[in-house]
Amino acid sequence: MDPKETIKKNLERRSDFVDVVSLHENIPMPSWVELSLIDVCNRKCSFCPKSDEKVAPDTFQKMSRKIIDEIHDQLLEIHFNGTISLCGYGEPLLHKDISYIVKKLSNVSKVEVITNGDVLSSKRLQELYISDVSKVLVSMYDGPEQIKKFKEMTKKANVPEDLIILRDRWYDKYNDFGVKLTNRAGTIKTGIQEQVGLYKNCYYPTYQLLIDWNGNVYLCPQDWQRKVSMGNIMQETIFDIWTGKTFTDFRKNLILGKRCNNPCKSCNADGTLLGKNHTKKWKKIYKIKN
Ligand SMILES: C[S@@+](CC[C@H](N)C(=O)[O-])C[C@H]1O[C@@H](n2cnc3c(N)ncnc32)[C@H](O)[C@@H]1O
Ligand code: SF4
Repeated sequence: MDPKETIKKNLERRSDFVDVVSLHENIPMPSWVELSLIDVCNRKCSFCPKSDEKVAPDTFQKMSRKIIDEIHDQLLEIHFNGTISLCGYGEPLLHKDISYIVKKLSNVSKVEVITNGDVLSSKRLQELYISDVSKVLVSMYDGPEQIKKFKEMTKKANVPEDLIILRDRWYDKYNDFGVKLTNRAGTIKTGIQEQVGLYKNCYYPTYQLLIDWNGNVYLCPQDWQRKVSMGNIMQETIFDIWTGKTFTDFRKNLILGKRCNNPCKSCNADGTLLGKNHTKKWKKIYKIKN
């Protein structure tokens, strides 16, 4: 298998719905909301900050139903038309309330689960399906033998074959471990990393946001050190945070190619792979030419 093929396919798939702009009060809304449900992972992949307990310790903190319900209500309020991704800084399927979470949030929009697949079983897959999950993306870190295992699991669960997307991520450092490798905004050095400063513009803050277990909102999923909080959804609404000063300053700077503040200063991610259509809209609003 070509290690880059799955990455390319996944990006194309995501672009189909992430790059669709919906307006609320004439403002482009995020099309991708990522939730970090739980701050623990059962794996310690070498390229992931979770491999270093000094940097990203397992704190076992998890998102409460109160916060899930608040996210549900606030996203309905802004007529959210994007996708909710259950991923973040840990392993979402370790959250015991996963069925409730998926069921509740699927009232609002499509819900995708990103998992290392270790605790997935045909029973759990069936439960996720019944809870109306739209996709389960499995990161396979061990080897090609996992394909057979997950295909059989899907069959046994009696769910549509295309409910799960299998991603080959068992490669070595010369193949970027099969991921779109980044330093997680200066958090890790593992692998053959692009130099910081190569990429300037970044569209992440034009189309997405990340909500941590406690309701804190972060600029993007690269900010593993949680350097700058944009606000907390229990104190301000998602809409107010999205349109507030901190988010706006980062968004304007990054559209202009200025990675001048933390966490962006130390980030080596190409931030322009998604979000082109949102960026066009924001440029008009901010009167930025070209
Ligand atoms: C932190 S994991 C959380 C979800 C789940 N535990 C998993 O492994 O799929 C989120 C995604 O980040 C990817 N990832 C981790 N470290 C990365 C890095 N340094 N660069 C790019 N992607 C990375 C993982 O492969 C996974 O797809
Ligand atoms: S430059 Fe890096 S850290 Fe900053 S918003 Fe973009 S992806 Fe996130």
